[in-house]
Amino acid sequence: MLSIAVFASGNGSNLQALIDASRCGRLKARIPVVISNNSDSFALTRAQKAGITTYHISQKKYPDYINYISQLLTVLKKHDITLIVLAGYMKLLPREIVDTYYGRVINIHPALLPKYGGPGMYGRNIHQSVLAAGEKYSGATVHIVDSQFDHGPILIQRRLLVNPNDTPDTLAARVLEIEHEILPQAVELFIK
Ligand code: GAR
Repeated sequence: MLSIAVFASGNGSNLQALIDASRCGRLKARIPVVISNNSDSFALTRAQKAGITTYHISQKKYPDYINYISQLLTVLKKHDITLIVLAGYMKLLPREIVDTYYGRVINIHPALLPKYGGPGMYGRNIHQSVLAAGEKYSGATVHIVDSQFDHGPILIQRRLLVNPNDTPDTLAARVLEIEHEILPQAVELFIK
């Protein structure tokens, strides 16, 4: 069975969607390891509850860049990782990791890329910008990662209609529901 490393920085609800899909057999993959740049990330708690090995690896923790990359590569190799999933990972994955796993790193983003992606486009900012621009649609995208933020070939994208009375929070919540559906689907697609 294919082994996935999930990188997450915050709440980890997308990680949870993958854990649930893997547990019930809908996703034919295992998640042996979760890595976070944030030691307080709830994603780490979710992973530990599911019996997954967790690592806190950040550049702050490993200020020497070579050592930082080496920590990441050692963990990924140790767990025989085939696919890396960025599920709410708010750091740029180092180029050395993207190059080593080229074509095998995917990212989920809460907008219809290529619009509303890139540096500064995270969390509420995205949904606020979508509403301010008067967009008719928003949605979520899973794409293969290259060396730029929120950039690379799209695997799955699903859209929803923006409601006239949407706030950034209501829009974020509806987009997140879509994310939880399409992320496991994108991993299945990758496996096929
Ligand atoms: C999700 O909406 C994800 O798409 C977004 O962060 C949120 C994490 O939620 N990722 C990005 O904005 C990446 N550019 P979660 O921690 O509950 O999964």
